[in-house]
Amino acid sequence: MLYISLVFSAILLVGANVSALRIAKSASRPGLPVAVFSACGLGLIGLPVLSQVFLPTVAAVQFLLLSAALFLWWAGQRGLAFFLMLSLAATAAPYGVAVCFVLQEQSEYARLRERFPYESMEDRLPKPSSRVELGPLPNRTSKRLTDLEYEMGFSSGFSSRAEELRILHEERVRLFVNSSGFGAARMLRPSESGLTLKLREPVPQPSPLAYAPVSGGETAPEPKVWVGEGLYSLHQFAILDFADPDGFGFFKDRRHVAGFQPHQFSQAPEPAERWEVRRLELVGLLLHEKPVAYVTEHLPRMDELGEAPTRSLDPFEASALERLRHGEDLLFTEAPGSMRMLGSIRSVKQCMGCHGGERGDLLGAFSYTLHRTTAELGVAPDRSGKR
Ligand code: HEC
Repeated sequence: MLYISLVFSAILLVGANVSALRIAKSASRPGLPVAVFSACGLGLIGLPVLSQVFLPTVAAVQFLLLSAALFLWWAGQRGLAFFLMLSLAATAAPYGVAVCFVLQEQSEYARLRERFPYESMEDRLPKPSSRVELGPLPNRTSKRLTDLEYEMGFSSGFSSRAEELRILHEERVRLFVNSSGFGAARMLRPSESGLTLKLREPVPQPSPLAYAPVSGGETAPEPKVWVGEGLYSLHQFAILDFADPDGFGFFKDRRHVAGFQPHQFSQAPEPAERWEVRRLELVGLLLHEKPVAYVTEHLPRMDELGEAPTRSLDPFEASALERLRHGEDLLFTEAPGSMRMLGSIRSVKQCMGCHGGERGDLLGAFSYTLHRTTAELGVAPDRSGKR
């Protein structure tokens, strides 16, 4: 495509100039250095073509200006030197303007490249080989992974952010050649607004830090497998919101990821089946030798968790985590008016680029403390006013 455009623009440009020259020459008066002037004009027009740039708009403007120059010269009955001047101006003006635009655009791309540079995930994540070993997954869990993959594909399908980041880093030549300064073909161009993610303010835990979760005492209550839909959707929502496919950016390889936003929540999950979230903590399995729960006053944000205090798992979490390792997905234990729940965060195909390993690997878990909502669902008090 590029070459066809080049040949086309070369013919157009040379053709325009040669015809202008011929007309000028036929009307020329003897004794004027037509050859010098042809060489200058051709040189000026040929240079950008040789530099492999496709310039349809610029060429069209130049063509119009050249025709106008020719007319002016003809009407003015002046010497060829005058036409030479006019034709040079007619050529320089459109290229000058275009070059200004192009330079401006290129410096904007350079700025965006600096703002969203390639980063390596290798120093931030352990090698896939150190992953947690897994048993075979029960059907129920497999189906949930498929659901999650579908939802992830769906929620990232509307955004072209990853593609814009790819173009920004990987298609420099095409970005230059197709610069809008040249008025060239339409293409997806990276822009500040396309690349910048909506600001995700830290979301406070619904319950303050001092709140003591029902741990079930020293002896772990036997965790039960959750099979209903409501709390499962709540957990699925939490994974989607936390991992946020839009924040993955462009993944070239593990050492080159542009525009990655560390996982973080943007809102507290809505109540489900008359249960509402009081605390939601991340059980980290990857970055610590032993599993830990991060204790934070916000819903988990990876950019805060490096500094956050951790605690070891309580008896419920520890025994539920064992079951997750054996393939279960969502476990709970209930006390009057409250519930503990541990849900697996497993790798699906969208995670594997960065996290390595295999589909279904356990990357972490969310530990929930849930309370009965006071009102029936649907007439629950407005939660948007954040307590
Ligand atoms: C573009 C790269 C990338 C993708 C894709 C990605 N992650 Fe991550 N994830 C990271 C990085 C890097 C960390 C380590 C924390 C940090 O540096 O932000 C991390 C950390 C985590 C942690 C916390 C680990 C711990 O022990 O604290 C979980 C859980 C997690 N990711 C789950 C997921 C899931 C689930 C998916 C897929 C739906 C996913 N990630 C996709 C890069 C990625």
